Amino acid sequence: MTLTTYNQIAVPSFMYGTAWKKEATAKLVQLAVESGFAAIDTANQLIHYQEALVGEALQSLAQKSVKRESLFLQTKFTSADGQDHRTPYDPSADLTTQVNQSFASSLQHLHTDYLDSYVLHAPFSRRGLGAADWEVWAAMETLYRASKTKMIGVSNITASQLALLCQEAQVKPMMVQNRCFAVRAWDKEVRDICREHGIIYQGFSLLTANRDVLVEPEVFAIAQREGVGPAQVIFRFAMQVGMLPLTGTTKQQHMLEDLAAERITLSADEVQRIETIAL
Ligand SMILES: NC(=O)c1ccc[n+]([C@@H]2O[C@H](COP(=O)([O-])OP(=O)(O)OC[C@H]3O[C@@H](n4cnc5c(N)ncnc54)[C@H](OP(=O)(O)O)[C@@H]3O)[C@@H](O)[C@H]2O)c1
Repeated sequence: MTLTTYNQIAVPSFMYGTAWKKEATAKLVQLAVESGFAAIDTANQLIHYQEALVGEALQSLAQKSVKRESLFLQTKFTSADGQDHRTPYDPSADLTTQVNQSFASSLQHLHTDYLDSYVLHAPFSRRGLGAADWEVWAAMETLYRASKTKMIGVSNITASQLALLCQEAQVKPMMVQNRCFAVRAWDKEVRDICREHGIIYQGFSLLTANRDVLVEPEVFAIAQREGVGPAQVIFRFAMQVGMLPLTGTTKQQHMLEDLAAERITLSADEVQRIETIAL
């Protein structure tokens, strides 16, 4: 299954996330692709991600005839605030140069000459969007217009910031990636804006941010009926409300289970119940 952005790019409906995998990153990315994931999320930020080891996995996969074009690669520009001393660009350079240097370094790490999706890891401003956000976004728009990335997106963004970005940007984001809490109706405000603009909403921490939901009797009952685990119910719920879920599992059994979530179906009532389960 695929989802389609407003600029008509098809995106796999489930994404494998590579945060916190450290030296196991290469092995796990290979395992994820061999298990059926076609979309990989990373970031050029050594505190949490090993982008170069994702690239190492891609090289090993290429030797096994897995073509670059068959994979959807997404990485991020992380501002100097989110980096340690290993900043992958000159932090004293202007922001446009920082984005361009970070992007070039990502292409090198991933052994590719284009990205499928390039994401601003987080706006600089906590409220609204400031000059730094607009400068970085403009640099990303330029990369998009030059066809160096098929889409651009933003992560860790509030509903009001996203509304502003959609209103003022020359190129609207095609992707939003946010942590998704059931207590906020699974980020419904942001998801609604995404739906209105044809933006794909990627949800992360669906399991880890919602441990209470996983043990709710209603979720458990659906899981029992379908012969699956509660994690699969949550991933399927996410898909049925139009989300693109991320999983960061480290186990092949869970990779296969997560992908199999597409094979179950929740009723409209069940979807609505889970959407409001923590309100
Ligand atoms: N933009 C951002 O700022 C940001 C922030 C955080 C994350 N992310 C992205 O999102 C990705 C995913 O992060 P996440 O927080 O959603 O996931 P995560 O915390 O990395 O992992 C998901 C958790 O769920 C478990 N799990 C997965 N499938 C399961 C199953 N079928 N049954 C039982 N347990 C299962 C995993 O355990 P096992 O390992 O035991 O399977 C793991 O503990 C990251 O790797 C990263 O790419 C982005």
